[in-house]
Amino acid sequence: MTGSLGGLRFALVGPGRVGTSLAGWIAARGGRLQQVAGRSDRPAATLAAELDGEATRLEALDTAAADLLLLAVPDDELAGVAGVLARRPQAGVALHTCGSRGATVLAPLAAAGVATGSLHPLMAFPGRLPTPPAGLICALDGAPAALALAARLTAAFGAESLVVEESQRDAYHLAAVLSAGGLVTLLALAAEVARGAGLPKSLRRGYGTLARAALESALAASEPIDALTGPWRRGDRGTVERELALLAAAAHGDGKTVAGLARTALRLLAARGELGADAAALRRALADPGFLDRYGGGC
Ligand SMILES: NC(=O)c1ccc[n+]([C@@H]2O[C@H](COP(=O)([O-])OP(=O)(O)OC[C@H]3O[C@@H](n4cnc5c(N)ncnc54)[C@H](OP(=O)(O)O)[C@@H]3O)[C@@H](O)[C@H]2O)c1
Repeated sequence: MTGSLGGLRFALVGPGRVGTSLAGWIAARGGRLQQVAGRSDRPAATLAAELDGEATRLEALDTAAADLLLLAVPDDELAGVAGVLARRPQAGVALHTCGSRGATVLAPLAAAGVATGSLHPLMAFPGRLPTPPAGLICALDGAPAALALAARLTAAFGAESLVVEESQRDAYHLAAVLSAGGLVTLLALAAEVARGAGLPKSLRRGYGTLARAALESALAASEPIDALTGPWRRGDRGTVERELALLAAAAHGDGKTVAGLARTALRLLAARGELGADAAALRRALADPGFLDRYGGGC
């Protein structure tokens, strides 16, 4: 446990993956959950029983006695939920946990005098995380009082905080999506390709070792693309064409995705001035719409 949040009274809307995690982290540092509201009743009741708070309905939530109102609902629900909450007295600070939106999505609460902001933990939460992961960074924005409380929470989690402005949010979040969901999707496609060829399941460990090694090199490099290896970098056109043809035969459109990925890799390598002659020729071939039609697969 890193910092203390002793005496902090908070309420939570959205006892899902992120909401239950953050509520647990805050409570473990001395914060006191007063109320929790969700869409369905059971998750709120379960968390309330665990952390000694009270489960309530969103429409009835009055958090005026709390220091913090934490909103961890799906992105597209935030504005509507803020509108409902603004009809009743609320805590002095409200923070949401969405990475792609800044404080302004909570405009109805700001108009009601609440200091609004966001605290986005830059981490994948496939379920409730019992403790803050090592190396966690949280992106913050908002009004001064909201920023100050968000920074206090982040420090108590032992995490680093930095301000990501509203205008940077789409790019910030897209980079997060590619770093997590993008990587996972590529691994899932690799597993599907291997399964489709009837390769033994035990190979999965080998691909895991390969992926970990590639990730480590990419993270250690001054630019991730410097760690690129394989037929795209070498410009092995015959290999690339056979492999795209394999995907094209599956006819689910992933040939185009992989060809696009190869184009992106070669564009990034070229920008680093690291494109060999064969790779440059492959890049030109990939830019030809006829090539894509042949190997891109149907969408
Ligand atoms: N999961 C991640 O990896 C991750 C990482 C960082 C940030 N975030 C952000 O954190 C937020 C929550 O994501 P999550 O993954 O924790 O979602 P989640 O697991 O689906 O949880 C969402 C919670 O909000 C409740 N909810 C939905 N609509 C509501 C409404 N209209 N009124 C009240 N409660 C409502 C849900 O209740 P029901 O279950 O009853 O529908 C559920 O308890 C999102 O903004 C997301 O972008 C997510």
